Amino acid sequence: MTTTALIVAAGSGSRMGGLVPKQFRLLSGKPVLRWAVEALSRHPAIRSTRVVVGKGQQESAAAALNGVDVGELIEGGAERADSVRAGLAAIDGDAVLVHDAARPFCPPEVVDRLIASLEFFEGAAPVLPVGDTLARIGDTLGEPVDRTGLARVQTPQAFRLDALRSAYDRWQGSSPTDETTVAGAAGLRVAAVAGDPALEKLTLPSDFERAEQWLAGRLSPRTGMGFDVHAFAGDGPIMLGGIEVQHSRGLSGHSDADVVLHAITDALLGAAGLGDIGEHFPPSDARWKGAASAIFLTHAVELLRARGAIIDHVDCTIIAEAPKVGPHRDAMRARIAEIAGLRVDQVSVKATTTEGLGFTGRREGIAAQAVASVRMSAC
Ligand code: CTP
Ligand code: MG
Repeated sequence: MTTTALIVAAGSGSRMGGLVPKQFRLLSGKPVLRWAVEALSRHPAIRSTRVVVGKGQQESAAAALNGVDVGELIEGGAERADSVRAGLAAIDGDAVLVHDAARPFCPPEVVDRLIASLEFFEGAAPVLPVGDTLARIGDTLGEPVDRTGLARVQTPQAFRLDALRSAYDRWQGSSPTDETTVAGAAGLRVAAVAGDPALEKLTLPSDFERAEQWLAGRLSPRTGMGFDVHAFAGDGPIMLGGIEVQHSRGLSGHSDADVVLHAITDALLGAAGLGDIGEHFPPSDARWKGAASAIFLTHAVELLRARGAIIDHVDCTIIAEAPKVGPHRDAMRARIAEIAGLRVDQVSVKATTTEGLGFTGRREGIAAQAVASVRMSAC
């Protein structure tokens, strides 16, 4: 069975408010839509993932999904059901998982349960029990509603593609809020599988805060290390820690040879498992000749933030007999913090000599080591 994930992201998020529709807002540094897409597309049972966006949202969606394979974006409609219809018309395969972009976290076990159910049912949806008392409300609190046998229905909802298409073709009612409504009216047998609180939809501003907190609890600490050396050559000044430092000797290198920024960049890339600086900025590439190393650090920080990483701290040690680092330490910390978007207290710069020993002791060059502490989500 080939399964396509169809993510509807064409809404305007009117109840959430804010400057951009909720699906493009950042959640721990990563757009909500990207969270939702990644959660489904990395499931081994899902062959392809497609995304429905509103008219005029193509650019925001493309930026949010940069580097993620979702094929061509599909244009949605005025109501959620219009967006789903447009999506169903554009995809193929045996089965579809229709999912709200506004539900950023989808545990893989839920997808397992949904897909397993399609063997016996034409559709399946994740449900959660109703824990609170239910009541009708008018001007005052009205009649209680018996909650026995009631459930809250989440997405993703799985269907055999042809069955869902024909259910939508036959749908006569006004805008349905999800596929189970349409499928039920068409007489499809839809299984109820266990849902998950992580799938809760982001609807109101308070939902966003809840999601941030939930995510914060799932971040795990990581450490990356970086090391770099550049040889002295020619005349100073040199670039060190993002600032110009007067020195009798210059440093040789393809870029501006800032060992401190290079070591910090590598430490950050290392913490996120993203390779090393040479991989991202090969010395063989003429573009980086004489480049300001701030570019490298900025790029590494952007890569980490795009993965939802929080950078807690960077610490580096400069190993050199000269120049003296002490008088420049505060300026270096301030500049590194500025480049990396950190507070100054999240940046530490230290220095040591090697007591005249080794290449740094012989004043042949400068070395730097760095350690980066970050937190990244496991989901
Ligand atoms: N959606 C869609 N097309 C629409 C309306 C909604 O694709 N015309 C999508 C939303 O982007 C969201 C999902 O359907 O991922 C669930 O809808 P909802 O939570 O209602 O989102 P919005 O319609 O954007 O929010 P609101 O109703 O508050 O305006
Ligand atoms: Mg809506």
